Amino acid sequence: MSRTLFVTTALPYANGSFHIGHIMEYIQADIWVRAMRMAGHTVHFVGADDTHGAPIMLKAEAEGVTPKQLVERIGAERPQYLKGFQIEFDHWHSTDSAENVELSQDIYRKLRAAGLINTREIEQFYDPVKGMFLADRYIKGECPKCHAKDQYGDSCEVCGAVYAPTDLIEPYSTLTKARPLLKTSEHYFFQLSDPRCIEFLQTWTTGSNAQGNKHLQAEVLAKTREWLGNGDEKANLGDWDISRDAPYFGIEIPDAPGKYFYVWLDAPVGYLASLKSYCAKIGLDFEALLDPNGTTEQVHFIGKDIVYFHALFWPATLQFSGRKTPDQLNVHGFITVSGEKMSKSRGTGISPLRYLALGMNAEWMRYYIAAKLNARVEDIDFNPDDFIARVNSDLVGKYVNIASRAANFISKYFDGQLAYPDDAAMLGSNWAQAADRIRADLEAREYGRAIREIMAHADQINQAFDAAQPWLIAKTLASAEPSQRDALQHICSSALAGFKALSVMLAPILPALSQRVATELFGQASSFVWTDAGVLPSQINPFKHLMQRVEPTMLDELFEIPAQDAAPKQGSSAKKSAAATQTTATKPQHQQATNAQTADSNLAEVAAAAPGGEPLAPAITIDDFVKIDLRVARIVNCEPVEGSTKLLRLTLDVGEGRLRNVFSGIQSAYTPEQLIGRLTVVVANLAPRKMKFGISEGMVLAASHFDAKIDAGIYVLDPSSGAQPGMRIH
Ligand code: 2FM
Ligand code: ZN
Repeated sequence: MSRTLFVTTALPYANGSFHIGHIMEYIQADIWVRAMRMAGHTVHFVGADDTHGAPIMLKAEAEGVTPKQLVERIGAERPQYLKGFQIEFDHWHSTDSAENVELSQDIYRKLRAAGLINTREIEQFYDPVKGMFLADRYIKGECPKCHAKDQYGDSCEVCGAVYAPTDLIEPYSTLTKARPLLKTSEHYFFQLSDPRCIEFLQTWTTGSNAQGNKHLQAEVLAKTREWLGNGDEKANLGDWDISRDAPYFGIEIPDAPGKYFYVWLDAPVGYLASLKSYCAKIGLDFEALLDPNGTTEQVHFIGKDIVYFHALFWPATLQFSGRKTPDQLNVHGFITVSGEKMSKSRGTGISPLRYLALGMNAEWMRYYIAAKLNARVEDIDFNPDDFIARVNSDLVGKYVNIASRAANFISKYFDGQLAYPDDAAMLGSNWAQAADRIRADLEAREYGRAIREIMAHADQINQAFDAAQPWLIAKTLASAEPSQRDALQHICSSALAGFKALSVMLAPILPALSQRVATELFGQASSFVWTDAGVLPSQINPFKHLMQRVEPTMLDELFEIPAQDAAPKQGSSAKKSAAATQTTATKPQHQQATNAQTADSNLAEVAAAAPGGEPLAPAITIDDFVKIDLRVARIVNCEPVEGSTKLLRLTLDVGEGRLRNVFSGIQSAYTPEQLIGRLTVVVANLAPRKMKFGISEGMVLAASHFDAKIDAGIYVLDPSSGAQPGMRIH
């Protein structure tokens, strides 16, 4: 029976670029969506930027732009990642949208009408200079227990003590360094502790959808049981503070001047807002699609860190505002890189854009991530050597290899025509059954298990092919018996029927490759659906090369430490050695020793000649120096220059109330995302220069070795934090 599904991934904060953790989640969801569509189900797969909250407001302010401008700039980056990794959302929207304002306010009004909103006076730290209430992360001070300085408002990183910000000794605002004052204000609460909510959540968390799929995975359910209280223990749920005071970038709370929804209230409503905007675009009735008594299944893919919001607040707000509740929460773990944990803001050592810029195949990553994923809430590790092995040995060596071996005989000796032995019907039905098992595994998010079975089939096909030694028959084909000729055709046809079936099974994981197999090799008019696996192909077109192997050097380049981390900084040897350790840890083993040795010997040669590879320039006077007007600049945007392999186009804020366009020959050292938002130093009074790609209005300062042949890197200068665009360097 055909199902209708509404599928989302967690909405990313709009103050940063995607990191590999985002890409992993989107790949997981995208594979699932494709597998469901291949089964004939209708899927609406939407995403959006999560735009509200204090961090975005403050970041925009620091960059001298409005929050809307910041959100727009980050939003404009999204397609290159999504396209690059073949992640096909039907629609991408924003929580800063008319639909989200309307839906969030409507949900709030209904919760209020249900008697589930109350208000309370809250005493909180307030920054008198900034004129705003401070979340715990913007307050620091001395730990009340171990007296370590500069500890955050909720816990001490040194002794692990947990406390309230008011317990800090000598607290200060990290925004202005001012001493915060205690101030009261009225806050709005969603009464999660109301018996109606507890009762509903007890039922929902243990429930299943119409397909019999549980709303929650076992580990997630166990967690919610702790929060809700097991059996007769009392639920441990507090009411949820859903308001924030101005100034706040968010949605106004109806009938509450100066109050805004806390970002986590309107963020998941953004799922609905995106679907609503999509429905308007394609002419679907949004409210009918999400009728609480209807059959649409609502499925959310999220990370383990945001379960509380999605398993408690979100279903409860939907239920008590009379809306449809979620059918399935699919929670995944984090991705580590060579065992190292990811930082939420910086991601891991893998930059998705760098991966793509290096020309690495997105399907290698999709395959590798799929091979590691299962339906449990487990972290997965990206290991460079494992990546190379799985792609080269399994994907290329086993799977692609089948077609490249068998297809050539068929094209050469049988004009592309396939023929099977008498048991062909059995062959077709075996493949249909195998594909059905894989379809079920993918639906259950057991991707690793699916890939293990697919590769076991690939092994069997290769073994049968090797055992039959078709190349020996081909050698003597001119003088061979007709039965020998048939045998050659049967062996190769069976292998190609297997290859087709495996391509169907891999289609959700390798969409572009499987599309090529369907159309170029098998001459199909449309892309694969699950039932194609059991249909034996009758002819092929000549084989075209399908997939390159991974070059180990690509992994070396992928893990090269970003220049700003690797650059030695005065008085910062600790940082330098930490960076060096990271390089060693993340490089594939086979490269560790060689790279370190090469770098050491290069440095020794350089030092012997002259600092930086060139003698010092002749002396100048201070009057000469002051002619050069060096200013602090903020890189507000950065993009590659089409047609240039060297240049990046930088948009700089030099504090002049306008933005400058500057071209810089640093493309070999930086990806745009590494530069956007950073401060740097610019020669601000350099006469504008007309270049092939436009006018350059200044020059960004960067360090490099004099001899370009010595690959010592390029290092863009950055002033210490606190410097503001426009400040002069004296
Ligand atoms: O943790 C995060 O990155 C949030 N921006 C996720 C929001 S998911 C949904 F609620 F919008
Ligand atoms: Zn402490």
